[in-house]
Amino acid sequence: MVSPTIGSIFPLLLPLFGLLLDLCSAADTISANRSLSGDQTITSSGGHFVLGFFKPGSTDRYYVGIWYGKDPKLTSVWVANRETPVADHSTSVLKIADDGNLVLLDSSGALIWSTAVNTTSNSTVAVLLDSGSLQLRDASNSSMVVWQSIDHPTNTWLPGGRLGLNKITGMTQRLTSWKDSEDPAPGIFNLELDPNGTSQYFILWNSTNNYWSSGTWNDQIFSLVPEMTQNYIYDFQYVSNPTENYFTYSMKNPDIISRFVMDVSGQIKQFTWLDNSQSWILFWSQPRQQCQVYSLCGAFGSCNENGQTFCQCVRGFSARNQSDWDLGDQSGGCVRNTPLQCGDRANSSNFQRDKFFTMDNMRLPVNNQTLDGIGSDDDCQLACLNNCSCTAYSFAGSRCYVWHGELLNLQDQYSQSEASTLQLRLAASELPSPKSNKKIVIWTVVGAAVALLVCLALIWFVVWRRRSSRLMRASKAVGGGLVPFWYSDLQRATNNFSHKLGGGGFGSVFKGTLPDSTPIAVKKLEGLQQGEKQFRTEVSTIGTIQHVNLVRLLGFCSEGTNKLLVYEFMQKGSLDTHLFKSTSTDLKWKTRYQIAVGTARGLAYLHEQCRDCIIHCDIKPENILLDDSFAPKLADFGLAKLMGRDFSRVLTTMRGTRGYLAPEWITGVPITAKADVYSYGMMLFEIVSGRRNLENTEEGNTAGFFPTLVASELMKENIGSLLDQRLGGDADLEELERACKLACWCIQDDESCRPTMGQVLQVLEGFLEVAMPPIPRSLRLLTETPENININFFYQTQNVSSSQSSQSKSGTSNSSQTRSNASNSSGA
Ligand SMILES: *[C@@H]1O[C@H](CO)[C@@H](O)[C@H](O)[C@H]1NC(C)=O
Ligand SMILES: *[C@@H]1O[C@H](CO)[C@@H](O)[C@H](O)[C@H]1NC(C)=O
Ligand SMILES: *[C@@H]1O[C@H](CO)[C@@H](O)[C@H](O)[C@H]1NC(C)=O
Ligand SMILES: *[C@@H]1O[C@H](CO)[C@@H](O)[C@H](O)[C@H]1NC(C)=O
Ligand SMILES: *[C@@H]1O[C@H](CO)[C@@H](O)[C@H](O)[C@H]1NC(C)=O
Ligand SMILES: *[C@@H]1O[C@H](CO)[C@@H](O)[C@H](O)[C@H]1NC(C)=O
Ligand SMILES: *[C@@H]1O[C@H](CO)[C@@H](O)[C@H](O)[C@H]1NC(C)=O
Ligand SMILES: *[C@@H]1O[C@H](CO)[C@@H](O)[C@H](O)[C@H]1NC(C)=O
Ligand SMILES: *[C@@H]1O[C@H](CO)[C@@H](O)[C@H](O)[C@H]1NC(C)=O
Ligand SMILES: *[C@@H]1O[C@H](CO)[C@@H](O)[C@H](O)[C@H]1NC(C)=O
Repeated sequence: MVSPTIGSIFPLLLPLFGLLLDLCSAADTISANRSLSGDQTITSSGGHFVLGFFKPGSTDRYYVGIWYGKDPKLTSVWVANRETPVADHSTSVLKIADDGNLVLLDSSGALIWSTAVNTTSNSTVAVLLDSGSLQLRDASNSSMVVWQSIDHPTNTWLPGGRLGLNKITGMTQRLTSWKDSEDPAPGIFNLELDPNGTSQYFILWNSTNNYWSSGTWNDQIFSLVPEMTQNYIYDFQYVSNPTENYFTYSMKNPDIISRFVMDVSGQIKQFTWLDNSQSWILFWSQPRQQCQVYSLCGAFGSCNENGQTFCQCVRGFSARNQSDWDLGDQSGGCVRNTPLQCGDRANSSNFQRDKFFTMDNMRLPVNNQTLDGIGSDDDCQLACLNNCSCTAYSFAGSRCYVWHGELLNLQDQYSQSEASTLQLRLAASELPSPKSNKKIVIWTVVGAAVALLVCLALIWFVVWRRRSSRLMRASKAVGGGLVPFWYSDLQRATNNFSHKLGGGGFGSVFKGTLPDSTPIAVKKLEGLQQGEKQFRTEVSTIGTIQHVNLVRLLGFCSEGTNKLLVYEFMQKGSLDTHLFKSTSTDLKWKTRYQIAVGTARGLAYLHEQCRDCIIHCDIKPENILLDDSFAPKLADFGLAKLMGRDFSRVLTTMRGTRGYLAPEWITGVPITAKADVYSYGMMLFEIVSGRRNLENTEEGNTAGFFPTLVASELMKENIGSLLDQRLGGDADLEELERACKLACWCIQDDESCRPTMGQVLQVLEGFLEVAMPPIPRSLRLLTETPENININFFYQTQNVSSSQSSQSKSGTSNSSQTRSNASNSSGA
């Protein structure tokens, strides 16, 4: 065993030792001769990973961990002493113990952490590999590995790592989230293989409630993760043999740095490192909606997809531990501010019966009890009041549901059909009472408050006058016919930002009305890094871009950190609300086609006709707005550039919009206008089908990745089946086929095979014929494709097979000639 005295006798000598011996042992190795203390680190031979002491965030607790060599923000992938930090890293030491284990000793020499294996030899070394794994192995024989960190993952799953189950020892390799964003201790969420032996992965809350499942492995993908077919960067492998089941992955291109993380938010997230912007982009996450995470907000906490923060305590409750809550650990939930008047208290002198607070549009908590034989809301309420442990009831569909104890898994503003009204039990004093006998007190308080407000208003007015004269001068500098607004004007126009229209990647949008009763949409930009002058320049550039298919920028506001853009208001909202609502029948085929054409026109204008080519970067139905005659206008153009020149910001904020991302976003090649063409193609599929490309159907099965279906139906010449069912087959089949083929062309893996937006427009308008598209490589995985189908090009050329030549017309311009050459080289 370790002698606990070494550290305590020579606490100051140990770091010195390490320093001196740096010279004679490899910098990626901890050996009997070289231990680690203080700020010393070892680095893997290629420089990819670093091991040493670190402290997360603003804490002063130290952990031994492994992090990326490239990322200065110290993104850890593994932590040794998750639950047992040390207070002082300079006197703690990570070393090889006498028994050959790698151990961490604190300043008193006490054992904090150990690899805890039975080693056959006591001459071992610990080597940090470029795969991110720390290996404990025999000093003289490197293939005798006794322990490796990649077999003991914490919250990160690295390429080459395994998540699985050893059937003999019963050991599982699972990911466990951090407790909160600054505490690596095991949190409440796990990702693990089904312990029952099926090939599906679950995300579990508190090791019990399974709120996400990958579906079973079907030799290529997990059945509930259809987006795996659209995968350009990983090789996945599921292994099942008599001793173990596990899943592992590797990178197709080893230069790409990627990691999967079981996040504090209860979602699994996949990040990819973008070298040129030195940042991680969130590429994929599940469950897609934050509020689908089971009991994310703890007991008496409620989740809200549209809120400023996802979690909030319900009325009458506050966070049990505010500091945990702020760091993203809401599992402690909320506690009641005022105890219920029940039991013993019911006999006290100023007894008031508990009341109920009505919460509409809620996802009801789990674990209800159904009370039979209760026929009215009043009786249901009484049944709840009469039991001190009852905390809420709901009377719905003439049934009485009650809840006892903690309320878990609440969600506000729930939009699904199961949304219902919950009656939350609160002490009477928590709710306004109509006959308050404290009127005098209240009026005194109100009087004082009013007096105070008047004073403040006066002060504010003076300050405002001074500032506005300054702003007045500044705003004269802006051209482009844009109106500079005061923040206070916009506050008034939007009724203090009370009517939220939506939240995009760059900030929230609110409805407002100008004094002349012109409706406007006000976008509050978030996370803007730019200086005042640059902001004004960019905004006035955006202001000069005007087109019938682009949402018009009317004005802006720039006061300190308040940066807002004022747009014309679009009556019918965004395309997704019409397209994906199962009941909506607004969009006939003709309208849809016009939307596709209009959008293409707007994009073509941005790409080809503006002074500088503008890449939109975020084409999706949410960004297509419709006026009262359903004419489409593109929103948010120019913002990618405004928000950050490297585009990385765009990606990190595109939560859940992975379905629209062109592959070059991940492979790291420069982004061109063709990235928009890809997104446009993805959207075109959705316009045709009326559903998301990546979507779970109501039965919980996946509907399949729609573009794959298109590809196969195109081949079977069975195009009518692709159409949105709501249209009842009422569509121009020629237009439909054109749209489907075009969309397939737009999503080609190789950007040089995709048409330009100008060509897209010509095809849609019927000026250009479109040939049978090749199936993009990524889609081919799931499609039975005859070999010979991939030999054609976007435009028909002379060497085309006879079966398709009937569809072709000449229409070949110079540019299409070069295009066919480009396609030729990559078509097979
Ligand atoms: C430790 O250092 C000594 C002398 O520098 C060397 O002979 C010995 O091989 C080293 N041991 C290990 C395990 O590296
Ligand atoms: C290995 O163990 C032997 C005795 O069992 C001991 O003398 C020797 O110092 C140990 N070597 C190391 C590197 O700890
Ligand atoms: C190590 O060996 C001891 C005694 O032989 C045994 O009890 C223990 O279970 C072993 N530990 C491991 C991790 O194999
Ligand atoms: C190193 O260890 C491996 C596996 O234990 C063994 O097969 C091999 O013979 C060893 N090599 C030497 C040189 O001892
Ligand atoms: C595993 O199987 C047992 C018995 O068949 C069942 O009760 C349990 O719910 C299953 N667990 C999971 C996670 O499916
Ligand atoms: C998680 O489960 C354990 C028992 O399995 C329980 O004691 C604990 O309270 C649970 N945690 C939460 C946040 O409910
Ligand atoms: C909140 O939790 C942290 C640890 O998670 C603990 O240190 C702190 O004392 C708690 N605060 C309160 C007010 O309970
Ligand atoms: C409340 O008072 C009544 C009579 O004054 C008594 O019978 C009853 O036990 C008391 N209840 C409690 C919970 O103390
Ligand atoms: C009540 O609980 C049952 C069983 O868990 C569930 O099927 C039902 O949907 C719940 N009803 C409501 C209104 O929450
Ligand atoms: C209150 O409800 C709980 C849970 O259903 C039950 O166990 C308890 O007996 C009830 N108490 C009374 C006084 O009815």
